[in-house]
Amino acid sequence: MRGLSSDFRTLFEGQAMHEKRPALSTSIDDLPVLTEMAGDRWGGDFGPLLADLFAAEDTSLMRALDGSVLAFRNADLRALSANRDLGNLPAPLLTEAFEASVGAESAFKRLAANHVFTMNPPSHGPMRQVFARQFMPNKVDRFRPAAIKATRRILAAASGRPEIDFLTDFSFRLTTGFWGELLGFSQAEVSELNSLVPHVSQAFSFIRTDEQTRLVERRAADYLALVSTGIQRSLDVGPPDYLVEMAAEFENAEVEKPDNIALMLAATLLDGFHTMAFGLTNVVHALLTRPEQWRAVQNDPALVPNAFHEGLRLAPPAVFTQRYALADVEHAGVSIPKGTPVTMFWLAGNRDPDVFPDPDAYDLARPVAGRTTFGGGIHLCPGRSVAKMVIETALAELTSPHIEVTVTGAADQWVPMSSMHELERMPVSIEAR
Ligand code: HEM
Repeated sequence: MRGLSSDFRTLFEGQAMHEKRPALSTSIDDLPVLTEMAGDRWGGDFGPLLADLFAAEDTSLMRALDGSVLAFRNADLRALSANRDLGNLPAPLLTEAFEASVGAESAFKRLAANHVFTMNPPSHGPMRQVFARQFMPNKVDRFRPAAIKATRRILAAASGRPEIDFLTDFSFRLTTGFWGELLGFSQAEVSELNSLVPHVSQAFSFIRTDEQTRLVERRAADYLALVSTGIQRSLDVGPPDYLVEMAAEFENAEVEKPDNIALMLAATLLDGFHTMAFGLTNVVHALLTRPEQWRAVQNDPALVPNAFHEGLRLAPPAVFTQRYALADVEHAGVSIPKGTPVTMFWLAGNRDPDVFPDPDAYDLARPVAGRTTFGGGIHLCPGRSVAKMVIETALAELTSPHIEVTVTGAADQWVPMSSMHELERMPVSIEAR
C-alpha cells in the first residue's frame, strides 16, 4: 500500500514558491522544496522533472510539499532505506485525510493499520515474517500453476474482442483471479473484487475531492470485508498449507498484532491486487510501445526477466512511499529529527544517471543491480518475488508465438498527481492463433 503522510491537498491551496536550491545544510528547514509536486510536471513520464533534479549537482535531500524530507538520488535512497531508524509511516499519519473526511472509524484507516506497511518495531519484524516467509524467492514457484491458470483464462476471454483496456480487462482480472485461486474464492467473489480494487487507487491521489474520498472509503470497507471473510472461510474449511503455516506463525507471535490473521492478510494483500496490476501493465506498456523490444522478447523468451526489471525500472508502480524517523537520523550532513516523515522517491532512484547511464533509455541488457523499484533494507517489498513470478508468467504467455497483442489506441496518459504510476488507459486487442 502506498500513501502520503498528510493531506497534500491543503498544501496545494497555498502558493507554491519557486525556491533556489541552496547548498546542503544541517537543518531540514533549510532544504529546498520540490515545488514541482504541485504542478503538471508531477506525473507523465517524469523525464523533464528528473532531468532538472539530477542536473542540480549540489542538491541531495530536499523537502516535499507536505513538509516531509524527500530523497531522490539513488545513493541517498539506498542508504536511507537501509537505516533501521527510518521505519514505516504509522497508519494515523498515513490516513489523516480519511479521518478528516469520514471520521476516526475510517475503513481505509483500519485497512492501513492492519497492513504490514504501517507497522514498526516490535510488531513489524514478526508480522512481516508471517507474510514474507511464504513468499520468499524459493517458495513462490508453488504458486506458478495458479498464475498460469488465471492468465490463460483471461487470454481466452479477451481473445477476439476488438479492444480491451489492458489494465482493467487483463491486469486487474489477473491479480484478482490469481489471489482468488490461492485463497479459494468463488468466481462471484473474484468478479466483485474486480469492481472494488480499481477504485481504491484514488487513495493514492493528491487531489481527491471529498466525494472521491468517501467512495474510496466505501470500496475499502467492502474490500476488507470480502477478502477477510473469504480468508477466514478458507481457514475454517481446510486451508492450503501456506495459509496453515501463516496462521500458526501469526498465533505464536508474542507482539501486539492485528485482531486476526485474516484481517492482516486481507489488508496486506491490497498490493497484491493493486500494485501488482499496475506493475504488469507498466512492464507490458514499456515493451509494446517499443515494438522492436517486444519482438526481441518474442524471439528469446529468456529475456522475459530482463523485461520485467527494465519495465519496472522505467515505470515502477510505486512512484514514492514514505518512511518515518523513529529516532534522530543524520544523513549527508542533514539532521532529520525523530518524528519526521521521509518521502522516498523510488522512481527517481531508478533513473539516477550516476547509476544508470542513459537512464531514460530502455535497455534489456542493463544489469539489475541498483534498482529502487521495491525499496530496500528491512522494509524491502516482501511481495516482490510473487509479483515477479506472476508478471513474468503473464509476459511469457503474452509474447508466446500463438498470441498477437496489438495496440489499438493512445496509451500515453498517466494518472496525474498520484503516488502511483498508473496509466489512464491502455487499449489493446489480443488474438490467440
Ligand atoms: C510490482 C509490484 C510491487 C512494487 C513495485 C512494490 C513496491 C514496494 C515498495 C517501494 C515498498 C516500500 C519498501 C521500503 O520502504 O523500503 C513496498 C513495501 C511493501 N510491499 Fe510491495 N510492491 C509490489 C508488490 C507487492 C505485493 C504483490 C505485495 C503483497 C502481496 C506487497 C506487499 C508489500 C508490503 C507488505 C510492504 C511493506 C514491507 C515492510 O514494511 O516490511 N508488495 N513495496
